[in-house]
Amino acid sequence: MEIVIRPNAEEVATTAADILEGYVRDGATLGLATGSTPTPTYRELIRRHREEGLSFAECRAFLLDEYIGLPREHEQSYYATIRREFTSHIDIDDSAVRSPDGTHPDPEAACRDYEELLVSEGGVDIQILGVGANGHIAFNEPGNSFDSLTHVQDLHPRTVADNARFFEREEDVPRRALTQGLGTIMRARHLLVLATGEAKAEAVEAIVRGEVSEQWPGSIIQRHDKVDVIVDRAAAARL
Ligand code: GLP
Repeated sequence: MEIVIRPNAEEVATTAADILEGYVRDGATLGLATGSTPTPTYRELIRRHREEGLSFAECRAFLLDEYIGLPREHEQSYYATIRREFTSHIDIDDSAVRSPDGTHPDPEAACRDYEELLVSEGGVDIQILGVGANGHIAFNEPGNSFDSLTHVQDLHPRTVADNARFFEREEDVPRRALTQGLGTIMRARHLLVLATGEAKAEAVEAIVRGEVSEQWPGSIIQRHDKVDVIVDRAAAARL
């Protein structure tokens, strides 16, 4: 595992974009995360597309997760979020950006469909991951099996509270989501873990230095053979 500590979130984004750029040039399949952490990285990639001609035309992308019950048009669906913040600003084909179907009448079937799609499309070359304050990755909350595949997840009250900032009221935050499982994420060939800000310092310490435990889902990254963890000084405070 490579751990890179950068002075601030902007520098984290530059380092992450440097790694991602090589994959983009190869027309790789990108694993995209939502949440605020990767946003500066997406901005930097958009800048490179506009100013330096970096093309995503040969790339495909898979999202990690999606809220259950939000239609794609809802501005807080992850489907809409990734387009607004990233993929509508680059030259990737919209149909090449895939996400679990949070409005499927049978959520379990939506999970199976997504898992099958990931496998049949050859899997993810590089997976961007943020980290929840409780150590979750994607929406895999503490206690999830390390072998889990794409599944329906009840959100932890802390995750609901953390994500309430994106909604008008906390009651509006969906309580369930579809998420790639930890086993799904571990199949990605390269993990790029990003964390910024002091609120993530405890989780970063736990997943990078702590015991590998299902109580800290992100700690599974210690078992992957190609991981870059890029953090700013605040998130690295306890390393
Ligand atoms: C959400 C997402 C995760 C994300 C995490 C941290 O719950 N499902 O993929 O990593 O929150 O979000 P943020 O980057 O906004 O701190």
